[in-house]
Amino acid sequence: MKEMKGSYHPLLLLLFLPFVFGSFSSVADGSTYETFLRCMSNGNSSGQVSSLVFYPNNSSYTSTLQAYIRNRRFNTSTTPKPLIIVTPLHDTHVQSTVVCTRNLGMNLRTRSGGHDFEGLSYVSYANFVLLDMSNLRSIDVDIEVETAMVQVGATIGELYYRIWEKSQVHAFPAGVCPTVGVGGHISGGGYGVLLRKYGLTVDNVIDALIVDVEGRVLDRKSMGEDLFWAIRGGGGASFGVILSYKVQLVRVPKTVTVFRVSKTLEENATDIVNRWQYVADKIDNGLFIRLNLKPDNAKKTIRAGFTALFLGDSNRLVSVMNNEFPELAIQKQDCKEMSWIESELFWSSNINAPVKSLLDRTHYSPKFAKRKSDYLQIPIPRNGIESLWQKMIELSVVELTFNPYGGRMSEIPDWETPFPHRAGNIFKIEYGVNWAEEGPKVEAYYVNQTRLLYDFMTPFVSKSPRGAYLNYRDLDIGTSSVGNNSYTDGKVYGGKYFKGNFDRLVKVKTMVDGSNFFTNEQSIPPLKTRRKNRRK
Ligand SMILES: Cc1cc2nc3c(=O)[nH]c(=O)nc-3n(C[C@H](O)[C@H](O)[C@H](O)COP(=O)(O)OP(=O)(O)OC[C@H]3O[C@@H](n4cnc5c(N)ncnc54)[C@H](O)[C@@H]3O)c2cc1C
Ligand SMILES: *[C@@H]1O[C@H](CO)[C@@H](O)[C@H](O)[C@H]1NC(C)=O
Ligand SMILES: *[C@@H]1O[C@H](CO)[C@@H](O)[C@H](O)[C@H]1NC(C)=O
Ligand SMILES: *[C@@H]1O[C@H](CO)[C@@H](O)[C@H](O)[C@H]1NC(C)=O
Ligand SMILES: *[C@@H]1O[C@H](CO)[C@@H](O)[C@H](O)[C@H]1NC(C)=O
Ligand SMILES: *[C@@H]1O[C@H](CO)[C@@H](O)[C@H](O)[C@H]1NC(C)=O
Ligand SMILES: *[C@@H]1O[C@H](CO)[C@@H](O)[C@H](O)[C@H]1NC(C)=O
Ligand SMILES: *[C@@H]1O[C@H](CO)[C@@H](O)[C@H](O)[C@H]1NC(C)=O
Repeated sequence: MKEMKGSYHPLLLLLFLPFVFGSFSSVADGSTYETFLRCMSNGNSSGQVSSLVFYPNNSSYTSTLQAYIRNRRFNTSTTPKPLIIVTPLHDTHVQSTVVCTRNLGMNLRTRSGGHDFEGLSYVSYANFVLLDMSNLRSIDVDIEVETAMVQVGATIGELYYRIWEKSQVHAFPAGVCPTVGVGGHISGGGYGVLLRKYGLTVDNVIDALIVDVEGRVLDRKSMGEDLFWAIRGGGGASFGVILSYKVQLVRVPKTVTVFRVSKTLEENATDIVNRWQYVADKIDNGLFIRLNLKPDNAKKTIRAGFTALFLGDSNRLVSVMNNEFPELAIQKQDCKEMSWIESELFWSSNINAPVKSLLDRTHYSPKFAKRKSDYLQIPIPRNGIESLWQKMIELSVVELTFNPYGGRMSEIPDWETPFPHRAGNIFKIEYGVNWAEEGPKVEAYYVNQTRLLYDFMTPFVSKSPRGAYLNYRDLDIGTSSVGNNSYTDGKVYGGKYFKGNFDRLVKVKTMVDGSNFFTNEQSIPPLKTRRKNRRK
């Protein structure tokens, strides 16, 4: 039989190109793969590259794809899959991947830890290449100068561990879940329970390496302050492929103290939650008290969980609590003293695990999950809190987590980084549902519940625009056309994530990637979207 490959007239192929996913005009056949591999081998990395490139017919393709899927919603047979996966071992492989993906006119999705709540790092409806950064994960801690160089494929648990190996009085103010990836977390503005004392991850970043649209590796000096600003909270995926961040470590005492207590409505949760709103953002900067609200369906009540980290010993914590927040009635026996690294295990509900478990990249059992976010600037009135209980019990599946701001967060101007939700915000709300049953109907049910609660919260939360947190990715708040993101559409979600910083992000985007090669459903649009992504 005559081989079909190459039997079409080249011009005929060209005719079809514009109809395939807008500007992404690749036809996936054997020749695509060969072209890609040939291009990759032209780079500096010849010889090795073929072992870093996975096609769908390869027996390791599926396990490579699934290894860092952290949300089962995007692990189904109907989820769009990459045409090619590349797993670089060296920066030059990343450079080649950018150049060769652009040559082929395909979309590129970069995945570091894979925790994106909408799966944007590994799902695209355009023909796409998945660039999986998980092998680029070296961490170099320099305690003398209190900095660390961290490659994006490292997890924050690995970063915490490597810091702890060298010093027990240093830390980094990143998130709680140890498997979260450095690349997405920091570029999206990542925060953790040290934020009232030290701000966000991005407030403690001092340099970075990025591969730009031309395949060049740039550091802070060569990329310039505008791009360096953008990749500290504006999302990496709009601007290039970040290789590493250099971060400033922060100091923590040898002994910190934690507590976790829970109150039901019968135990005066309403009064205590109400009071929390007036205290949590103003209390000692070394004290972070997270509030988690959960409907208890059996008992038709609400469980208000208060979990705290204090940068000091338990005597001082009890005295601070008695002075500022006596309603919670914290006593010495509620408190537990430990090292900062142990407190990380405590927060990730893993207190009995050895510190080494922070290195475990597979310690995560993904569920189906949906998240949304809000910011609160005026305390919810007491009767509002009561109506919220009613609604949560009625919906029965959505949890809310209130993360207090204030402290360092209020000292940093809104425009210092792309992350704009600073002074004036009492707390951030995270809406969360996780579920275990598969199927579109179940999914529609749970996702719907989060939307109903979000609608219910409208009168209480920030407005014009209603704020949202990029790292709690939520496609409900707006999307734009992949490869053809428009300013008008981008302003809808961009205004919520970045407020007044959106326009500066658009300027940076226009400057560094005017052809809009780095694009997804919520990327920053360049000012004039040019249609062609092909490299000339
Ligand atoms: C269980 C869990 C716990 C979480 N806890 C917290 C928390 O405590 N605090 C907090 O702030 N957030 C938290 N998050 C949200 C988390 O910060 C974001 O999902 C973050 O983007 C994840 O980073 P990642 O590298 O794992 O994600 P990925 O899915 O790999 O990437 C997320 C986004 O960043 C882009 N990206 C990734 N790497 C690069 C790169 N190298 N260059 C350019 N773009 C890149 C991706 O393309 C995608 O758009 C949590 C999420 C989960 C699932
Ligand atoms: C891009 O968007 C503009 C404005 O919405 C539209 O007119 C144009 O047809 C789109 N182009 C492609 C290739 O989708
Ligand atoms: C997979 O497809 C590529 C491109 O068509 C081909 O070169 C390769 O031999 C195939 N591999 C297997 C294991 O079938
Ligand atoms: C080529 O790659 C090697 C590592 O694979 C690297 O050390 C070297 O600097 C690269 N050379 C160029 C010219 O990029
Ligand atoms: C699958 O891909 C990997 C990486 O490119 C390669 O090393 C391996 O030989 C491939 N296996 C098959 C069966 O093609
Ligand atoms: C994805 O699905 C496969 C089965 O197809 C399963 O083995 C794997 O654990 C799943 N991974 C995630 C993250 O859901
Ligand atoms: C609830 O508050 C009331 C009035 O302030 C108080 O008398 C009562 O002891 C409290 N109940 C609990 C369980 O703390
Ligand atoms: C969402 O909930 C509303 C109110 O209960 C209901 O009317 C609607 O049908 C639900 N939609 C889905 C998709 O479940």
